[in-house]
Amino acid sequence: MRRKEFIDREIELKSLEKLWSGKNFALVIVYGRRRIGKTRLLNEFAKGKRYIYYVAVESQYNLITEEFSDIVRKFLKLPLKGDILDIISSIVDLVDEKMLIILDEFQYIVNADPSFVSRLQRLVDTKLKDKKLMLILCGSAVPFFENKLLGYKSPIFGRRASSMRIKALRLHQIRDFFPSYDLRTLISVYSIVGGTPGYLEKLNPEKTIKENIRIMITPGNYLFDEAPNLLKQEVREPRVYFSILATIADGRNTLGEIASIARVDPRSITKYIALLEELSIVKKIKPIGFKRPVKIKISDNYFRFWFSYTYRLMSLLESQLIDDAISYIVDTLDNYISHVFEDIIAELVPILFKANIIRTRPIQIGTWWHKDQEIDVIVRDPGTSTTFMEVKWRDLKLKDARSILRELEFKASKSGLVSPVNYYILFSREIIDCNTPSKYG
Ligand SMILES: Nc1ncnc2c1ncn2[C@@H]1O[C@H](COP(=O)(O)OP(=O)(O)OP(=O)(O)O)[C@@H](O)[C@H]1O
Ligand SMILES: [Mg+2]
Repeated sequence: MRRKEFIDREIELKSLEKLWSGKNFALVIVYGRRRIGKTRLLNEFAKGKRYIYYVAVESQYNLITEEFSDIVRKFLKLPLKGDILDIISSIVDLVDEKMLIILDEFQYIVNADPSFVSRLQRLVDTKLKDKKLMLILCGSAVPFFENKLLGYKSPIFGRRASSMRIKALRLHQIRDFFPSYDLRTLISVYSIVGGTPGYLEKLNPEKTIKENIRIMITPGNYLFDEAPNLLKQEVREPRVYFSILATIADGRNTLGEIASIARVDPRSITKYIALLEELSIVKKIKPIGFKRPVKIKISDNYFRFWFSYTYRLMSLLESQLIDDAISYIVDTLDNYISHVFEDIIAELVPILFKANIIRTRPIQIGTWWHKDQEIDVIVRDPGTSTTFMEVKWRDLKLKDARSILRELEFKASKSGLVSPVNYYILFSREIIDCNTPSKYG
């Protein structure tokens, strides 16, 4: 397949360029979930610079070192001896220009030689800190990067110039993956596959949503297998995580409920949820302004779709009854998207604020509920103003829209969140008898 053009990541590239423009040594950590686009981003950043890019393999340290020295020999024409750190040390002595060295899949290097990080620390302190070098350590083992490498006890704590967690793209950043889709279709595709570039590129922008759903649910296809593969790779007891995620996709959202239905010991449920949160698969939400109650939601749209449909329809899919599965999905998709649409609007708040559609400075963004009352999205600038939003993935008549807004104002008055200035916004898929085009029509 032809390599697609590089999309967005403007903020990440800008921060990397800023670090590069500094005079001295910079140690930078880039990490994030599999297929999120780390390698592609670093390739893009390296363009036009003098660099060494090494992707480590899961192997013995001497083999890793051999590969690294082969790459240095090839790119810098320098036959250097010793291990990776000896070679880096010699490079900075021999090369005058500013250099970029990227060690990708860094966790494999540390697995092969657990003393690597403290030896690196010593080299930074004794030599590299005054050199014109940018060293990027990159990898996808999120718990390793967050807890071990970036933790307080890590030898390189305090020595890094920056750490960047690469996150999934948001709705407004995925347009270029599907240039011919209108906004409504784009919202639908984002609701089912999310913003992971490695997943987005598996769909076909020339095809309809329905045809792309077929790609996602056909046994043997990459996106059919990826959710279980990723869990198997990242966690020790994938089965437990499977039943937890299936339970959440079924609409259970309190820790107690999830533990009981997924048959997990209630004392360990927080540990499982914490790891899923670290992997950006689930998120915890609380009513804005309060610490409790806590609800758990699937935050990654690909996982949400997989556990809502692929997992649930597994017996149909494995019996090759794909058309029946598709017609079930198509019949229920609007209801599925209506839940995701609330999250999409919440994610877009900063953009909507910049575009002056939301007038409240987004100091706090959240949701509110009490008993059976809920407000989908709330933005607060405490003490100044609040924007209350109702989000409907439906085509509404103007009359209905007005009554929804009146109801929203009433709910807001009961929420205890009203400010000196308050705004009320309704986001709907379309207002069907209104002359002004709706923002999300
Ligand atoms: N910004 C982007 N624009 C277009 N395509 C992208 C972008 N980022 C990533 N991709 C594509 O998505 C796929 C996955 O990206 P990449 O290999 O960079 O992910 P990764 O985070 O390094 O994953 P892994 O941890 O599995 O190595 C690649 O085919 C890549 O070309
Ligand atoms: Mg990679």
